[in-house]
Amino acid sequence: MDEAVRGNQAVWERAATKYVNEYDEMLDLARGRWELFPRELELLEPVLSRGPVVVHFQSGHGLDDTALVRAGARKVVGVDYSVVTAGAAQRRAAEVGVPCHYVAAEVPGVPVRDECADLVYTGKGAVIWMRDIDAWARDAARVLRPGGSLFVYDAHPAVPMWSWDEDEPRIRPDRSYFAESHVNDTFPGNGAREWQWTLGQIVTAITRAGLRLDVLEEYAEPFWRPDDGYTAAAWSGRLPNAYALLAHK
Ligand SMILES: C[S@@+](CC[C@H](N)C(=O)[O-])C[C@H]1O[C@@H](n2cnc3c(N)ncnc32)[C@H](O)[C@@H]1O
Repeated sequence: MDEAVRGNQAVWERAATKYVNEYDEMLDLARGRWELFPRELELLEPVLSRGPVVVHFQSGHGLDDTALVRAGARKVVGVDYSVVTAGAAQRRAAEVGVPCHYVAAEVPGVPVRDECADLVYTGKGAVIWMRDIDAWARDAARVLRPGGSLFVYDAHPAVPMWSWDEDEPRIRPDRSYFAESHVNDTFPGNGAREWQWTLGQIVTAITRAGLRLDVLEEYAEPFWRPDDGYTAAAWSGRLPNAYALLAHK
């Protein structure tokens, strides 16, 4: 494992205590209150209506996995390099009684068979942790059966540039859209190195891996807002904060 990736893994392993400390609260969400975003459900409807086998790259707390099963997935394999995170997600899935299985492993290099999945699902704070975007796209393509879909719903690559000022949006003087990486300064990945992939680099990696792009949408609404209700002016509708991408093999 790359040294910077190992450093990030240590940050995520520490951050994962949240998933253990908030276990009961998350269990309650996993039992039914946690849903995919309405637009995700719309874009994924043709795939989910066929009862897909899903591999979730960087599955985190796994709440999207129980939601995927409720929306039609036959089973979900979640892959996350945090042992604590994958363990908490596995325990929750067993308590809720859903066919979700977790593997503690690095992405890319996901330890599942070639062409075993109808859907590779990822995002909500995932792509920024990829050291090599081409290796990531190749791994998604490898895991998908012919006709299978890759779905990404993630932070827009421009997000690192937006300040969190309340009065008006500003571009952070220490950030560039074209920088290679920066150190995360917000919870929970605080201190980890984020790699910046432009939208062009992400789409190019996916097509280079042999996938065909079906949908690429950009949204003003971030995929996540702080629990305390804090609102930055950059989230008020004028700037891109998230995107969805659907491609097929
Ligand atoms: C911001 S969280 C989001 C995960 C998920 N989408 C969610 O909402 O819970 C990022 C996750 O990616 C995992 N992660 C980061 N880099 C990884 C890598 N290279 N391989 C596997 N997991 C990784 C972290 O352990 C963490 O659980």
